[in-house]
Amino acid sequence: MNPSKFQIKQISAQETYKVRLPVLRPGKPVTSCIFEGDDLESTIHIGIYLEDSTIGICSFFKNKHPLILDKQQYQLRGMAVLEAYQGMGIGNKVLHYGEALLQSQNITTIWCNARKVATPFYEKCGYQIFGKPFNIPDIGTHYTMQKLL
Ligand SMILES: CC(C)(COP(=O)(O)OP(=O)(O)OC[C@H]1O[C@@H](n2cnc3c(N)ncnc32)[C@H](O)[C@@H]1OP(=O)(O)O)[C@@H](O)C(=O)NCCC(=O)NCCS
Repeated sequence: MNPSKFQIKQISAQETYKVRLPVLRPGKPVTSCIFEGDDLESTIHIGIYLEDSTIGICSFFKNKHPLILDKQQYQLRGMAVLEAYQGMGIGNKVLHYGEALLQSQNITTIWCNARKVATPFYEKCGYQIFGKPFNIPDIGTHYTMQKLL
């Protein structure tokens, strides 16, 4: 795929629902895509576009994890790439863009609650598991992971 066709930029929460719904909440109502804090000024949503269509997204929330002492921390949520474009480096690209943006705002730690199936992706992107796995009803086993920027 020609990388010059990609565009990565900050987007609205509404725009993320186009990818959150089919990838993270398939078969559920669009209201299930709304995350608490989506519209806060401190929340950052990033989208990667291919010819005007959103194909990948991630969001960063100013949330503190109880076990992380660093005050300059953000939570990564809603990491998703449309199925047809998975495994092509899109997730890595959109995540990296968001990390660089947060780094420029002096954020030094990013953490996330990762689905078990997605932990290899986060590990490739420099995240490490900490603490014990836990279950989120209807979604499954999750691991908390963090990355120091
Ligand atoms: C997880 C997800 C966002 C990754 O995006 P992606 O575009 O498919 O991933 P990339 O192609 O950028 O992969 C980056 C690296 O991670 C690796 N990777 C990605 N998914 C992987 C997996 N399931 N198992 C092992 N490695 C994986 C890739 O091989 C690549 O490694 P490389 O740099 O050595 O080639 C995407 O697959 C997705 O939307 N999955 C469904 C939703 C989901 O689980 N979201 C996470 C919720 S916590």
